[in-house]
Order: sequence, then C-alpha cells, then structure tokens
Amino acid sequence: MSDVSPDNLDPNALPQLGAELSAAVAAAADLNALEAIRIAALGKSGSISALLKSLGAMSPDERRERGPQINGLRDQVQAAIAERRAVLEAEALDAQLANERLDLSLPAPTRRRGGLHPTLRVMDEMIAIFAEMGFAVAEGPDIEDDFHNFTALNFPPKHPAREMHDTFFFAPDENGERKVLRTHTSPVQVRTMMSQAPPIRIIAPGRTYRCDSDQTHTPMFHQMEGLVIDRTVNMGHLKWTLDTFMSRFFETEGVTTRFRPHHFPFTEPSAEMDVRCDRSGGEIKIGQGEDWLEVVGCGMVHPNVLRNCGLDPEEWQGFAFGFGVDRLGMLKYGAPDLRDMFASDVRWLKHYGFSPFTPLSPLNPG
Ligand code: DAH
Repeated sequence: MSDVSPDNLDPNALPQLGAELSAAVAAAADLNALEAIRIAALGKSGSISALLKSLGAMSPDERRERGPQINGLRDQVQAAIAERRAVLEAEALDAQLANERLDLSLPAPTRRRGGLHPTLRVMDEMIAIFAEMGFAVAEGPDIEDDFHNFTALNFPPKHPAREMHDTFFFAPDENGERKVLRTHTSPVQVRTMMSQAPPIRIIAPGRTYRCDSDQTHTPMFHQMEGLVIDRTVNMGHLKWTLDTFMSRFFETEGVTTRFRPHHFPFTEPSAEMDVRCDRSGGEIKIGQGEDWLEVVGCGMVHPNVLRNCGLDPEEWQGFAFGFGVDRLGMLKYGAPDLRDMFASDVRWLKHYGFSPFTPLSPLNPG
C-alpha cells in the first residue's frame, strides 16, 4: 500500500491511498477480511487514524488544506466499508438460510419421537369412559364474556365468587366490556343449553385459567365439564355417574372417594368429591394415606341457570360436574406437583408422557 504517512505530503498520496483501500474493500471476501481492512485503516493505529491525529500538529494553514482531504478520505473509506458489509451480510444470511433449510415433509428420525402429554392422555381416557355412558363432547371458547362465564351461571353481580375465581380479565373493549379467560368449563353448559334442546348429555373438556400457582394450582389448567338435563334426573344419578367413572378411570377397587357438601352458585345442592391419597415422600399414591385431593365439583343445576338458558325448571332438571383433569392425571400417574405438568421439561415429559399408539385400556363391560 502507498506510503502515506503524516510526513509524506505528496498531493497524490491521499487519493492513491483512497483508491487502494476502496479496491481492497471491494475485494474483501468475507466479513472477517473486511473487518481486518477496517482496523488497518480506521482502527486505533490505522493509517487514516494516524493521518487524522497528525492534523493536531499542523499549522492552521496546513490544517485548512489537509483537514478536508483527510476527513474526506475517511468518509469515503467508511462508506465503502458500510456498503460492502451490507452486501456480505446479505450473502452470509442467504448462505445460512440455504444451509439451515429443513424439509418438513421428511419423516422424523425415530429416536426423536414425540409423545402425548399425560393431560391429553387423561382426557382421551375420560372421553372414552363418558362416551361409553352416552355423553357427547361439546366445546366453547377460551376467551369468554362475563355473561357465559359468570352471569348466566347465577353469579350475582359484584359477588365475591367472581373474585374467588382469580380471574384474568382483558382490557375493556370499545363497549366497555371486559372479556375473561374462562375460569372454568362451566360456560360450555350455558352455550349448550342455549343452543340445543334437552335431553342433554355432554362433557366439555378444555383449558381454563386462574391467577394462581402452588403445588396443586397452575395459571392454566384443564377441566372437564359434564351436564345432564332431562325430566327426572336426580342426585342419585349424579353420584352413580361419578362413582362409576372413578372406578373405571382408576381401574382398581382401591379408590376411596368422599362427597363433601359445598357451595357453587350454579348448583343446588352442591358437593365436592375428593379422592384419598398419600402425598408423603415426594410422590402421590392413590388408595392409601390420609390426604384427600379434590378432583370434582358437582351438584344439581340451579333453577336460575336453567331459566337463564331458556329452560323451564318446572319441566327440566339435571346435574352437572366439573373435573380437574390434570389432578386426575397427577393421581393416576403419580406426579406430585401440578406445576411440573406445564414446565415443558423434556425429561419430565419423557418420563410421564405416552406414545400416541398406546391403546386406551379396555373398558369394563356393563
Ligand atoms: N366450575 C367449578 C369450578 O371451576 C366446578 C364445578 C362445580 C362445575 C360444580 C360444575 C358443578 O358443573 O356442577 O370450580
């Protein structure tokens, strides 16, 4: 490269250095080569930096003449480097994209086979059992309005029960309405009763949301609602249905359940059913121990709910229940902490997950 030092004031030297640097920049094959040129010219001890530093020692006249030339050279080289960098970066990105191209139509390597989350597995098992009892599957949206999530279900306005649900509210829309992430699957009862004529026999599995987190609560969890509406349905039918479900689901005689009186705004009378379990020693075991895990709330559908959905309580009555699906999975498959269910730890998923090809266990006849 030409000898342009602060002492060499040959008037051709600067343009020549500029031309040489521009040529080197244009020829830089990759970003590393370009960076080396930048450092050699504009770095702390680069050739242009030395020229810039020399301005300080010049007489004012000399500086007036040489200043614009040296600054112009720096600008020219900086611009050339920036232009070349943009080209090289685009080329590098193209190369990376071509290199990382993935053909999604190729079969997955067998070693990396995915699995079913235990909650999905439990839902499939539950649906199979209830389907055999004549229940159809119904669905509703995760984002609900206040009417379906609360009002139609007989939650009085401003009633503390609305707070009890630790609701996730959306910001008010243009009409001032605050949508919610549904706090339970019970709004699907309302949607079903308002859209189809009784008799009704449905289950509604799905995601539900509450602002809560501890060993048995997560902000997102799964419930399965059940609703039966007919003319003479009573609490005995409800108890039989839940007990029969339990013994089929756990495939053992050793399950002990208990019904506790409870309160829900949408049922009267209401109850909760717990399953006996043992939670000592970092594992959860069913059929032993002194602990109880609440797995389902239930009751007879409140006349106000029937009325809110356009049904005459003198003519129709029914029962409803709402299962905590993940909790049933914890009990059946021995996972002690609900939070682990949704932590997306691949080791946990591998341990507790299921092959999608594992058949559901055969149902008890009759
Ligand atoms: N929705 C209730 C909850 O999330 C569970 C429930 C209780 C559902 C009683 C029902 C019912 O259908 O009848 O806590």
